[in-house]
Amino acid sequence: MPNDPVNIYEYEAIAKDRIEKGHYDFIAGAATDEITLRRTREVLDSIVMKPRMMVDVSHRDLGTTVLGEKISFPVLLDPAGNHGAAHPDAEIATVKAAGKAGTVMALSSHSARTLEDVAEAATGPIWFQQYFFKDPELTLGMASRAEEAGYTALCLTLDAKISPKRERNMRNNYVGPVSPNYAQLDLGNHHWQFAADAPAGAMDIRDQAATWKDLEWLAGRTKLPLIVKGIMTGEDGRLAAESGAKGMIVSNHGTRYLDTTFTTIEVLPEVVDQVNGKAEIYLDGGIRRGSDVFKALALGARSVLIGRPLFWGLAVDGEDGVSAVLEMLRSELDATMGICGCPTIDDINFDTLGGISPLQQAFDLRDRRR
Ligand SMILES: Cc1cc2nc3c(=O)[nH]c(=O)nc-3n(C[C@H](O)[C@H](O)[C@H](O)COP(=O)(O)O)c2cc1C
Repeated sequence: MPNDPVNIYEYEAIAKDRIEKGHYDFIAGAATDEITLRRTREVLDSIVMKPRMMVDVSHRDLGTTVLGEKISFPVLLDPAGNHGAAHPDAEIATVKAAGKAGTVMALSSHSARTLEDVAEAATGPIWFQQYFFKDPELTLGMASRAEEAGYTALCLTLDAKISPKRERNMRNNYVGPVSPNYAQLDLGNHHWQFAADAPAGAMDIRDQAATWKDLEWLAGRTKLPLIVKGIMTGEDGRLAAESGAKGMIVSNHGTRYLDTTFTTIEVLPEVVDQVNGKAEIYLDGGIRRGSDVFKALALGARSVLIGRPLFWGLAVDGEDGVSAVLEMLRSELDATMGICGCPTIDDINFDTLGGISPLQQAFDLRDRRR
């Protein structure tokens, strides 16, 4: 249909009109001046790919694995709180779309539906995201609920233990709802209102003292493989792998915690280098095009994840909207692979990118010939 959105940006434009302003700003916004939020797109857009001719690309296979789990293409669903802000079916719609697309959904512990209800509706692999809490029993309790419900990996978010400053939320006086995941737990004296990343509330129970030793401790106490989220330096990548992480997400939390950091794609090569194959590496942040997925894979990511676009898909058309967003990325990636002469995921490597400007390359070539 002529008015149907043809890319993820157009999904966001429609979603903006449908989502209540406080929720929209919470989803779209980021820390302080949102400089890195904008720069994320600029950096991704500035990376160039090199089309290759006369390669047999008549059969293209986008399939790969994450932690041994088969997925139909290397795009996973990031953990992001309260899908109910975008659609009444919330994470039930999202998890169904993930299953249909043949990929993994990581559920946020701040989901609008219980982790058990979401697991029940899942038709594909699911991971559960949580934090290190001050109370170790809460950390283990969440992990064992996830394990019992059928989640196949535990994603520990490391970059969200200090309250961020998000000025859109301050202006809107935004307070998010309490997730039923927490309501069902015996929280002892943790009875306060969840303020969804506002200065108080949800942050209070997160353990600001957590160190790599705690990751080792948790790895020894759960059967689920651990994935850490929030890695932004090569050294932290190496330490995570040494402390028991089987996977890690190179992520700056969609720039929602700290502004003026590197963008994730900029630090990816350093992390890949220092982890040296000891854990799987995924990347999120600003992925809006199939070509972005291609670029992340070329620089060493095994898969990417998407956050905000899930809300845009949900707001436009619930489960079908999330499916449409995922299929858009799939078809763009498929075409990019074909044009770059990469029939399979394994064919995507560093050489498929042109890192420096062609003019610089021409000067280098001239200098070499001299
Ligand atoms: C509304 C919203 C809620 C989020 N909630 C969580 C969360 O509960 N846990 C978490 O680890 N990350 C959370 N994130 C961060 C995402 O997992 C992800 O790192 C980020 O959104 C990726 O960037 P993108 O939105 O540009 O794709 C949230 C992001 C958004 C936009």
